[in-house]
Amino acid sequence: MQVRSKKFFIETFGCQMNVVDSERAAEQLYQSGYEQCQDISAADVILFNTCSVREKASEKMYSRIHAIRRLKKEGAFVGIMGCVAQIEGKKLIERFPDVRLVVGTQAVGNLKRALGKLDGGEEFVVDVVSPNLARFDGVDVRRRLDKYVAFVTVMEGCDKFCTFCVVPFTRGRERSRSPESILSEMVRLSQQGVKEVHLIGQNVNSYGLGRRIEGKNRLSFAGLLSFLAARSDIPRIKFTTSHPRDFSSEIVEAIETWPQLCPWVHLPLQSGSDRVLAAMNRGYTCKGYLQKVAMIRQSSRRISLTSDIIVGFPGETEQDFIRTLDMIREIKFDSLYVFKYSPRPHTVAAKWPDTVSDSEKTARLQELVKVQQEVQSEVWREYLGKTLKVLVEGKSVKSENHWTGHSMCHKVVNFESSSDNLEGVEVTVKVDKVNPHSLFGTHIH
Ligand code: 5AD
Ligand code: SF4
Repeated sequence: MQVRSKKFFIETFGCQMNVVDSERAAEQLYQSGYEQCQDISAADVILFNTCSVREKASEKMYSRIHAIRRLKKEGAFVGIMGCVAQIEGKKLIERFPDVRLVVGTQAVGNLKRALGKLDGGEEFVVDVVSPNLARFDGVDVRRRLDKYVAFVTVMEGCDKFCTFCVVPFTRGRERSRSPESILSEMVRLSQQGVKEVHLIGQNVNSYGLGRRIEGKNRLSFAGLLSFLAARSDIPRIKFTTSHPRDFSSEIVEAIETWPQLCPWVHLPLQSGSDRVLAAMNRGYTCKGYLQKVAMIRQSSRRISLTSDIIVGFPGETEQDFIRTLDMIREIKFDSLYVFKYSPRPHTVAAKWPDTVSDSEKTARLQELVKVQQEVQSEVWREYLGKTLKVLVEGKSVKSENHWTGHSMCHKVVNFESSSDNLEGVEVTVKVDKVNPHSLFGTHIH
């Protein structure tokens, strides 16, 4: 008689770090005899890998737990992983009767053990204990969510303590992975057909600076980029997120030296007011930021520049906001993500009065998005008639002959082609049209 294997369902919220953790969780669930399913009502274990970077993200997850109560099958239980799990711990068990498992970001590697305890009859398991060891073990390609694009962790945690940010509390102190271990994962990925690797970390420019846990690592982040580009045969390497304070000219030089290092830098500005930047503890001024922008713009390659802004930080005045608008007009980012400030647990700013009303935050967000849209359509127009190398991710939902992918400068590019299967292929596309959030073109070869 064949024993029916148990099934798990996993849903991931938040950043790429969580995507990697979900893959690591899936690996352990397979090892524990589970199979993945896409249907919540068929699952024995329903896992939510959660994000708490902004209030909206946590709320979304809480309402999701309520919503699935009707869907889940008898006897199934819910597990919470990720940043909310790390911060809230046991409180989640008390708040949600269906939750029997809470595994924080620092304990993803313990998931298998936790499942064993539940199987052994324990009513619930909470594991948020930091073993103080980054567990950067590679993930089997079968658990990867994307066949051609993979996220590879190079460092984890953050020591910057920006006053609005929960990350130092959810992800702990900075630690870097050894260059050899990153390289061996990339070599393996390449053998498995991966074409693009995103080197990820909360603050990749601090690579090698924090407490190093793997070997004797003497490379800076720029040194790591060159080390990997010289030794791996992955054709496209992207990296994120950069911090303006540690972003160095050597990184630009590495991008100039190695064609496979993609010309894209995500450099969160957060505010265009020095007063607000100081209150945020960002460690740079607008002038300092503009110097980094000049360094990037002077490069022989056209490096795409994207950023994040928070509107309505405690104490942000109309004047401060106008300065942010001016910076956005001056810098001309390729793309911008704008967020309304929300107080987060344990952060310094959460103790300050949230002075900007929600309606004012919304108004500032809308104005900033509008200004960026004007800037962006001007910036993107320069791509008209140019050719871009696009890694094809799949068919576009819109039409049979339309395909979609990302350029090396990390723009969404849709194009028309009658080819049968282009998935995972790097193609050349000539840009014919600029849409607000994507480029459209023709397949050249
Ligand atoms: N409120 C609003 N936005 C935030 N971010 C981080 N913390 C907060 C917060 N408390 C934004 C920052 C960061 C991005 C990932 O999320 O802009 O760069
Ligand atoms: Fe958060 Fe600041 Fe660290 Fe970025 S640098 S993860 S915003 S504390």
